[in-house]
Amino acid sequence: MLLRQTLIAVSRSRRAEALLSNSSMTTSVARRFVASDVIAATSELTRRGLLVTVDHLGEEVDDRVKADGEVMAYVDVIGRLAPGADVSVKLTALGLRLSEQLALDNAATICEAAAARDVTVTLDAEEHDTIDALMSVHATLRKEHPLVGVAVQAYLKDAAERCAALTGARVRLCKGAYDAPGAYSGKDVDRSFVKCLRVLMSGSAYPMVASHDPRMIEIASTLAVLHGRDADGFEYQMLYGVRTDEQARLAGLGAKVRVYVPYGDDWYAYLMRRLAERPANLRFVARALVSG
Ligand code: FDA
Repeated sequence: MLLRQTLIAVSRSRRAEALLSNSSMTTSVARRFVASDVIAATSELTRRGLLVTVDHLGEEVDDRVKADGEVMAYVDVIGRLAPGADVSVKLTALGLRLSEQLALDNAATICEAAAARDVTVTLDAEEHDTIDALMSVHATLRKEHPLVGVAVQAYLKDAAERCAALTGARVRLCKGAYDAPGAYSGKDVDRSFVKCLRVLMSGSAYPMVASHDPRMIEIASTLAVLHGRDADGFEYQMLYGVRTDEQARLAGLGAKVRVYVPYGDDWYAYLMRRLAERPANLRFVARALVSG
């Protein structure tokens, strides 16, 4: 728990970022979790029967020019992705901290570009103080773009109510990767995840089960059968470079499996969150240190 909090704090530190993101050691570890060529990576995953959602790495921006740059990056990648792909978008990278309207306008531009290419958009869930704005932006976008999806973090105590309110929406359920005060921790997160799964699988939403946890995956598949959902009625989602055998196994059984593919230079905070949720990943850092 302490290590997780430390790594999440390190993920937000500009000084640590300057130090670590220029080190060849962290760069080589990043390559395991971040695609160096997003189109080559997504084409290869598609060839293997997997779906993709693409994330242009970047977090909170503090000026409009950077937010515009983020929109341009998404419009560019959408133009190069195959139909059926999805893009994952962070509202803070679109200017949410400057104004909700700016983030909404920018997200709408991305949704329009995506709709023209038969690509869908999913809004990532970020820090706890952005969640109300996330839900409000998602609700507004859905009026024009009914397929826009949103992530719900099971560690938040109102996660099940959020899921219940998202009738008919594409909902990505994840455990939650940030440091949220007052949030569930440990096994309580798993219990909340299962509660949310029950709400989503029994309701009208399209559940996107974003977890590598074998127990959550098994419970999701059981609930899907129980509620008469066929393979097209929900999907599993996993991160690029994580449990690739399991991704292939589920796809081989006929399930829809979407891989979250991050790309771009701004990989530092993303990598630190991956290390925080699974400190075992630190062994890659250790190995890279030893091999120089
Ligand atoms: P967790 O980390 O709880 O581990 C449980 C078990 O799963 C482990 O004991 C192990 O058995 C297995 N496992 C986990 N990682 C493994 C690995 N690397 N190798 C082998 N086994 C492993 N978060 C967020 O806050 N907002 C968001 O929008 C998103 N979006 C998102 C999209 C997708 C597609 C995914 C998969 C995840 C996210 N997340 C996220 C991150 C999410 O909230 C969470 O931090 C991580 O997925 C880790 O939680 P898990 O449920 O995967 O397992």
